[in-house]
Amino acid sequence: MSPRRLIIDCDPGVDDAIALLLAFASPAEFDLLGITTVAGNVPLALTAANARRICHLAQRTDVPVYAGCPRPLLRSLTTAEDIHGSTGLGEGLLPEPTMPLQDQHAVAFLIEQLTTAATPITLATLGPLTNLAVALIQCPEIARGIDQVVMMGGALGPGNITPAAEFNLYVDPHAAKVVVDAGLPLTMIGLDVTHQVVTTPDRLAALENLGTPVGKTAADLLRPYGQIDCDRHDLAAPPLHDPCVIAYLLRPDLFTGRAMRLAIETEGSLCIGRTVANAYPIPATPANATVIETADAAGIYDLLTERLGKL
Ligand code: RIB
Ligand code: CA
Repeated sequence: MSPRRLIIDCDPGVDDAIALLLAFASPAEFDLLGITTVAGNVPLALTAANARRICHLAQRTDVPVYAGCPRPLLRSLTTAEDIHGSTGLGEGLLPEPTMPLQDQHAVAFLIEQLTTAATPITLATLGPLTNLAVALIQCPEIARGIDQVVMMGGALGPGNITPAAEFNLYVDPHAAKVVVDAGLPLTMIGLDVTHQVVTTPDRLAALENLGTPVGKTAADLLRPYGQIDCDRHDLAAPPLHDPCVIAYLLRPDLFTGRAMRLAIETEGSLCIGRTVANAYPIPATPANATVIETADAAGIYDLLTERLGKL
């Protein structure tokens, strides 16, 4: 099978970084056309720099990196330095990038790629959906160039940034509504799934024991990461969110899900950004997403460790 044409939209972010490494480590499966960055975990200048830092770490500075939207559509930006550190990648673990940032805006790149695609492109979204929403608003025809969108975002159960909402969709709920309402082939990987995928000490050790710069850096990034989530949600270990999207594209057999009708709350204060899913779609409100519900965590970490060992 020819490699899947892929664009990753992200807000690195520690877990975004691990997801990028997993994608870089899978060249047989992915033709990575570019990385678009968005404000989220940390401001845009940092997410755009961090994506390039990870390109350097993986020796993949051939992959172009684009800066996108510096803030949500309507709301002011909410960031998560408490989770990801002041730089977004812990505290100074990776050197300043030397590869250039592309001059083209990420939204223009998305539109250009998706309107000229000879074969449809897969979008992996790992952060707030601002870039994709702006591209859809500016050029709805991009939908024809999209094979599928797999997003890390949402939660059928409790949120993480608020009791009701998951961070990515909370940061830009209006963008999330644009994407969910666009009728795209959408798969949602939310907290219900990622909280099943936790970095236990033995899984962390397996990465460190790779004995490579990538393995060591991945372990160094993950070691302090996510303890807040772990404590807040009474998990056995910190959850690993974004790599689940790449793992799903590589091994969908490690996951299960159902077709559901998904909607995004964009009003109010208590529940803004909430994903409301109806598992029993009716003709008037048909299913508009595949909502993933289970993950084989052991299989995901085996995949992650095996692949990162190749970098
Ligand atoms: O809620 C977790 C998500 O928000 C992850 O994508 C993390 O990187 C942050 O962007
Ligand atoms: Ca992210």
